[in-house]
Amino acid sequence: MQRVEEELTRLIKEIDYDEVTKLFSMLSGGKRLRAKLILKIAGEHKDAPLLAAIVELIHGASLLHDDVIDDAMTRRGVASVNATEGSKMSIMLGDVLYSKAFTELVAFDKEIARVISSSVTALSKGEMMDVKMAESFNTDEEKYLNMLYLKTATLIEAAAKASAILVDKDVQKHALYGKNLGLSFQIIDDILDITSDEKTLGKPAMNDFVEGKCTLPYIYLDKVLNREESQRLKSSHAKNISASEMEWIKTKMQENKTIEKSFELAQQLSNEAQVAVSDDKELVGILETMIKRSY
Ligand code: IPE
Ligand code: IPE
Ligand code: MG
Ligand code: MG
Ligand code: MG
Repeated sequence: MQRVEEELTRLIKEIDYDEVTKLFSMLSGGKRLRAKLILKIAGEHKDAPLLAAIVELIHGASLLHDDVIDDAMTRRGVASVNATEGSKMSIMLGDVLYSKAFTELVAFDKEIARVISSSVTALSKGEMMDVKMAESFNTDEEKYLNMLYLKTATLIEAAAKASAILVDKDVQKHALYGKNLGLSFQIIDDILDITSDEKTLGKPAMNDFVEGKCTLPYIYLDKVLNREESQRLKSSHAKNISASEMEWIKTKMQENKTIEKSFELAQQLSNEAQVAVSDDKELVGILETMIKRSY
């Protein structure tokens, strides 16, 4: 991982603009899940740290844009770039990071470059769908999971797939692992938005529903509420609701075990990911740490 950080520092320095270096340092940290995944799959290859740095640049860019889209004022435990420097800066820094990542990808095998860059198109489509779907109360689970696959799982899938290509490992198995890991990861992120707090998350809690995002626990809840209750839930959608209304929603979720049901799906997807790479202890280990993130 030290090598990945060095590559990131080098790439940022190459952009040759103090403002970028300064702003990028505000974005430091993160779990580096995608980079770790690449190193676990292709660690022995000399270009693995560069590939990992490229994917972290892409991921960082997506977060810079995502926080503008979501009006999020906290990221990785500190004020987001859009909070302190404004949305314009956050968008422009995101553009710089995306384009630098694409420039660096050119040095790789065509198939690797295609896999990674096309996942960014998918991610961007997913972010658009997320925003469009938040305009009304979405109750369609399949539609939700498809959006989630695009916005989050495709980059993780692409990272796993590209690193498998790099070292001639089974591409399909690793892609399947990455996809299911990514899906499971985002479902847990959505659960944590409800069950955790800002201090633990390093980003705002209970922000999704206020932003209009009907994540799985809300979709499952709506299915089991009676008409009157369902109307009450829907009238809170995409609004800055009171703490007591939030409590009512949380209580209903508890009564109906909708968090547990969502977690079960995450667990099931994680098991499917495990089956794909069952002989690789380290990749199985990543799944376990992720599932164990407190919720
Ligand atoms: C956050 O990703 C965005 C999602 C896809 C949920 P991470 O939770 O991996 O973010 P960092 O990199 O650790 O901050
Ligand atoms: C993030 O989804 C997906 C991408 C960054 C592409 P979220 O909006 O749920 O991510 P967080 O919760 O802000 O990290
Ligand atoms: Mg967000
Ligand atoms: Mg978002
Ligand atoms: Mg989230």
